[in-house]
Amino acid sequence: MSRFTELTDRTGTRSVKWDMAASLFQSESILPMWVADMDFKAPESVIDALTERAAHGIFGYTMTDKLIEGYISEWLRKRHSWSINEEWLTYSPGVIPSLHMMVQALTEKDDHILIQTPVYPPFYSVIKQHDRNIIENPLMLKGERYEIDFEDFENKIVKNNVKAFILCNPHNPVGRVWDKSELEEMAQICLKHDVLIFSDEIHADLTFSEYQHIPIASLSKEINHQTVTCMSPTKSFNLAGLQVSYLITADEGKRKSLKDMFNSQGMFMINTMGITALEAAYQQGEEWLDGLLATVENHRDYVIDRFQNETDLVDIIKPEGTYLLWMDCRKMGLDQSELKKFMQSNAKVGLNDGVSFGEAGKGFMRMNIACPKATLEEGVDRIIHALQQYKG
Ligand SMILES: Cc1ncc(COP(=O)(O)O)c(C=O)c1O
Repeated sequence: MSRFTELTDRTGTRSVKWDMAASLFQSESILPMWVADMDFKAPESVIDALTERAAHGIFGYTMTDKLIEGYISEWLRKRHSWSINEEWLTYSPGVIPSLHMMVQALTEKDDHILIQTPVYPPFYSVIKQHDRNIIENPLMLKGERYEIDFEDFENKIVKNNVKAFILCNPHNPVGRVWDKSELEEMAQICLKHDVLIFSDEIHADLTFSEYQHIPIASLSKEINHQTVTCMSPTKSFNLAGLQVSYLITADEGKRKSLKDMFNSQGMFMINTMGITALEAAYQQGEEWLDGLLATVENHRDYVIDRFQNETDLVDIIKPEGTYLLWMDCRKMGLDQSELKKFMQSNAKVGLNDGVSFGEAGKGFMRMNIACPKATLEEGVDRIIHALQQYKG
């Protein structure tokens, strides 16, 4: 049985996705397809490295070194054609903590920060929690694909004297992998108006066969110096609980401000097991990752086909990357609380509420398809069956 078909019981592991589901969705029989981690075991090489490290038995304070920097820069070169200077790296327990640090270190109270909505919920909270203002550049759903309204992007920047832009690429939840011309256009506008780019590229490794992730900072030297990029092996290799990630900041002044901010919050240590997992994943995980991508792409096409053939009430927005599907349920004609109730009580599937990604998510839900096919089939059966009953 392959890594990607094996059913592993996650209950009782303090899994947020599984062990919180019954209380969150108010049902014991809910099938969790929400929060962004996967129901697949990590690569064998990662498990072996962690087992070996655990067997050592001493888990004292841990540092990074040249070897780790080398594995990261080699990964970025191989997978994303990006040559970085290893001095640009800093480490962080996660991309969310990094976003908090960037906002605090590189913007000031009352500044305006732009996001492209609907978007990953913490983008809102990291801005609000530090008394900055959210400026929204809503993405436009054109047919079956979300696009950027560049005129609005620039107008909002000018009108609000925007200081920073948090880019989500690949985009959660709409699944776009922004292409070179889109990235160029956003970056040129940011350079023109001196807007910092905080680029959350945690899903960078998760792009489907026709698409290539391009780190925005790799476009030019000027753009690189305007940008802080966050990346991590945690989404790609299912290591979220190990809390390890890194930032790439070419500009020395910005890097120093960020490091000072991390230090001032007491965040200067790396997780022993996290760094062990990163090392093994980047050194030996490529074959596993390619297998994962083929599996998720197959799952994406399976779900789209099923919904297209069996119901006209829900449209799946075809993602170019990530293992998250953005479901357009507006034809059901329900308000958001009815829609949530329908998915949890009628379909008995635990999905993310579209509105948690902002008002633009009204009428939408998000489904996680990184699970064995049998689980996916069960989830899709439940939703389609409930939709057919609803229609009948
Ligand atoms: C766009 C995006 N950024 C960040 C995160 C979380 O990052 P971390 O677990 O490293 O804090 C997620 C998790 O789903 C995400 O989708």
